[in-house]
Amino acid sequence: MNAQTAAAIEAQGVSHAFSQATAPLAVLSDVSLTIRAGEMVSLLGPSGCGKSTLLNIIGGLLPPNAGSVRLDGQALSGIMPHKMSFVFQENALFPWNTVLENLLVALEFQGVPPAQRAPRAAAALAAVHMSEFSGFYPAQLSGGMKQRVALARGLSLQTDILLMDEPFAALDEQTRMVFGEDLSVMLAETGKTIVMVTHSLSEAVFLSDRIFVMTSRPGKIKAVVEVKKEHPRTPDFVVSEQFAAIRSELYELLHDEIRRSVESAQQIPKRDDG
Ligand SMILES: Nc1ncnc2c1ncn2[C@@H]1O[C@H](COP(=O)(O)OP(=O)(O)O)[C@@H](O)[C@H]1O
Ligand SMILES: [Mg+2]
Repeated sequence: MNAQTAAAIEAQGVSHAFSQATAPLAVLSDVSLTIRAGEMVSLLGPSGCGKSTLLNIIGGLLPPNAGSVRLDGQALSGIMPHKMSFVFQENALFPWNTVLENLLVALEFQGVPPAQRAPRAAAALAAVHMSEFSGFYPAQLSGGMKQRVALARGLSLQTDILLMDEPFAALDEQTRMVFGEDLSVMLAETGKTIVMVTHSLSEAVFLSDRIFVMTSRPGKIKAVVEVKKEHPRTPDFVVSEQFAAIRSELYELLHDEIRRSVESAQQIPKRDDG
């Protein structure tokens, strides 16, 4: 994949509440952030703090109650399939299509010329080590394999921006490690602007240029932590002092927030299913 001219994302004063049976649930409160073109950032925060909601707002899937999102300086209004692709938590593969067909359909939807579709799909499947499974149906794959196909699909689309919601959630720990290394290589090559939601401290440190740490709900940006290390990153980074220091900084920042969100969940158990 060629390096592309990536777009920058700017969120200004984004707030959002979901209406509920009783009172509205305030989920995001005055979130502002700027993501530079070609940057890889993570949104890290306690469960239910509004990470997925913020990602959906950035992706144009959900209009915020207040505030605005701009892409390349232009106001965002709805999804922009030519600019942004998504890799969701629950990988949405078509069950009646094979692995390869799932990628081809996505490329067709994006308007990629027919002759380019097959080679691009094949390259993306190779990048996630799934070439052998091109002819399989989703039902024949493990959760982790489906997740890799979803990631291949996101990477194969020629968008400047890739939004990922806990892309490794379904992978076991060893696969995650290897996969994280491969992803670091892929990300370095694509030049895409990437926003990833994660609740894993190590994943955030390993992959990100900057980490936006969020408070418990209603989510705000509590801190922005920078990881000054070139890509692709290799396993020796994981055992470095720099890695450990950033990971403990994140832990410190998150600890009180997680306690707060657990305690509020105990008080109003029905409200927290995030
Ligand atoms: N469509 C929705 N309608 C009502 N409540 C929602 C909806 N989506 C999310 N929520 C609630 O908003 C809160 C934040 O959700 P979410 O953004 O998914 O959190 P996170 O991804 O950080 O775990 C949670 O309490 C969740 O239950
Ligand atoms: Mg989420």
